[in-house]
Amino acid sequence: MTIIANLKMNKTNSEIKDYIMKLLSRYEKGKHEVVLCLPFTSLTTAKFLIDGSDVKLGAQNLCDDESGKNTGEISGEMLHDIGINYVIIGHSERRTKYKENAKAINKKIKIALKNRLKVVLCVGESLADKNLLKTFETLKTQIEDALKGLYENELENIVIAYEPIWAIGSGKIPLAKEIEGSIKAIRKVIANDFSEKASQKIEVLYGGSVDNKNCNTIAKIKEVDGLLVGGACLDAVNFSQLIKDVKV
Ligand code: PGA
Repeated sequence: MTIIANLKMNKTNSEIKDYIMKLLSRYEKGKHEVVLCLPFTSLTTAKFLIDGSDVKLGAQNLCDDESGKNTGEISGEMLHDIGINYVIIGHSERRTKYKENAKAINKKIKIALKNRLKVVLCVGESLADKNLLKTFETLKTQIEDALKGLYENELENIVIAYEPIWAIGSGKIPLAKEIEGSIKAIRKVIANDFSEKASQKIEVLYGGSVDNKNCNTIAKIKEVDGLLVGGACLDAVNFSQLIKDVKV
């Protein structure tokens, strides 16, 4: 399983030091692919601290331009240069609050891949979409827009995180059959646009209110290849327990 922690805009650099020390002291190597997606300010500190462990690091965003006049932005090249392995792209908080559109997401994915960063592409329906029975349609549009112009072999470096917007930070999670259905719908889009083989190979994670109590049940759902964890990753002791509790 792939277990990704999205720390969002939490923890100063010194708090991250403490977090990683606590996590590593309780961490079982080799059990899962564990990725910490941290604020930019603590990535270099974290890189030094995780050295020798199999924990990977990710950023939570990157610029949709390769270089140049983009005050306040961080490029794919900069992330690769400091040894970052993953980057989250298209998180719903960025799509809504920062008005990140489909074109920018597609550009970011291409830049990330060019800089040898593995992409965690977030997709998911709003509550309004769900109520209008438009979940699959939304997922299809988001995936097709994001992956436009990509070659099939590039999908090896893409992980899709299915995160219903209404489940993020709300304590609400979809029914198991809904998660399974949505992930099947995601694979169907990949099968249609690329190939059946690619659709079976691509890793699809679930995110949205994953916690210590529900993590193993969600992980066991057919089609789920991993978890994207927000709130429940913020305490290192809790998160290391969550990693242990995922038995799949
Ligand atoms: P949550 O966040 O686990 O707190 O719901 C998940 C996310 O936003 O990626």
